[in-house]
Amino acid sequence: MTRCIVTGGAGFIGSNFVRLIVKKQVFDKVVVIDKLGFGGFLENLSDVLGKITFIKEDLCNFSSVLRIFEEFKPTHVFHFAAETHVDRSIIDPSSFIKSNILGTYSILEGAKKNSAERLIHVSTDEVYGSADSGEIFTEQSSLNPSSPYSASKASSDLLCLSYYKTFNLPVIITRSSNNFGPYQLPEKFIPVVITNLLEDKEIPIYGTGKNIRNWIYVDDNCEAILQCGLFGKIGQVYNISADNSNEIENVNLAKKICKILKKPESLIKFVQDRPGHDFCYRIDNSKIKNELNWRPKVDLDTGLQMTINWYLENENWWRKRKKELEEYYQQNYGGR
Ligand SMILES: NC(=O)c1ccc[n+]([C@@H]2O[C@H](COP(=O)([O-])OP(=O)(O)OC[C@H]3O[C@@H](n4cnc5c(N)ncnc54)[C@H](O)[C@@H]3O)[C@@H](O)[C@H]2O)c1
Repeated sequence: MTRCIVTGGAGFIGSNFVRLIVKKQVFDKVVVIDKLGFGGFLENLSDVLGKITFIKEDLCNFSSVLRIFEEFKPTHVFHFAAETHVDRSIIDPSSFIKSNILGTYSILEGAKKNSAERLIHVSTDEVYGSADSGEIFTEQSSLNPSSPYSASKASSDLLCLSYYKTFNLPVIITRSSNNFGPYQLPEKFIPVVITNLLEDKEIPIYGTGKNIRNWIYVDDNCEAILQCGLFGKIGQVYNISADNSNEIENVNLAKKICKILKKPESLIKFVQDRPGHDFCYRIDNSKIKNELNWRPKVDLDTGLQMTINWYLENENWWRKRKKELEEYYQQNYGGR
C-alpha cells in the first residue's frame, strides 16, 4: 500500500500536482499538509477534496508534523511547502527562514523516523543565482543564491542532502525554472500581467525588462516531479526546465500577453528594479531527459493561451486573491 504526503498541496504547483496524482491514481492514499498561508487556498483543491485527506498545519510545528507522519507512515513525501515570493522575502525574510528551513527540518525528521521510501524536495533554479552570458547551470554547478528566498531554498537543499549522506534518507531534489499556469497567485509575474491587462491597469516591469527567464508550464513540471519521485535515483538532484524556445525577456513576454489579449503595449510601465534581481536563469535539463526520458510538452505560446483561458474562466478566483493581496499590503506596508 502506497501512502503519499504532499506538503504545500494547496498552493500553485502543489495543487496542480495533487490533481495529477489523484487523476492518475498513483498512490493508494494522499494526505495534503498545508498551513493555508500565503498562496495556499483550500479552494485550489475543491475538485479533489473528496479523494484526499487534508490537514491544516504549519510545518514549523515540529511535534504536530511528527504526529501526522507517525499516523500516516508515508511511503512517499513530496515537499512543496515554502514561502515563495521573492519580494516579500526582501521586505521580511523571517517567515522564509522559518518555513523553508525549519519546515524542511520537520519533514526530514518525520520521514526519517517513519522510514519513508522516498522524499522529493521541490527546489528552484534560483539557488544557482544569475547566469552570465552563455553560462548554463548543471546539477553540479555551485549554489550562489541572491535573495533571502533563494538562500533559504539553497539551505533546505543542503539540509536534505545532508540527511541522505548522514542518515541514508532516500532524498531526491528537483530544481525547476519559473512555472506558469492555473492557480498562480496574482503577485507573480504572468498572473499580474494577465489580470492587470484584464482590468486595463498598467503592468509594472522591473528595471529595463531585459531579465531573462525560462518558463515551464506547471503540468510539465508536475509530471517531471512525479517521474523523479517514482523513478529518480536516490541522493540525486534533477534540473527541470522547458526547451530553449520558452526562454524570453520579461518585457517581450508582457508584449506577447498584450497581443493575445488585444491590449495596448503602452500599459507596460518600467519600475525601479528589485535589489539583487537576478538577470538570467538558465539550467541544463539533459540529466532528467537522459535518465528518466522526461520531455516538456507545452511550448510557451500554447501554455500562455491555456493560462489566459483559465484566468478568463476563473475571474472570481483571481479577483478574490487580488483583493486579499491589496488588503495584506495595505495593512502591513501601507500599500505596494
Ligand atoms: N512558482 C515557481 O515558479 C517555482 C519555481 C521553482 C520552484 N518552486 C518551488 O515550488 C514550491 C511550490 O511553489 P508555489 O509557486 O506553488 O508556491 P505557493 O506560494 O503558491 O505555495 C506554497 C504553499 O506552501 C504552503 N506553506 C508555506 N509555508 C508553509 C508552512 N510553514 N507549513 C505548511 N504549509 C506552508 C502555503 O500555504 C502554500 O499553499 C516551492 O517550494 C517553491 O520554492 C516554485
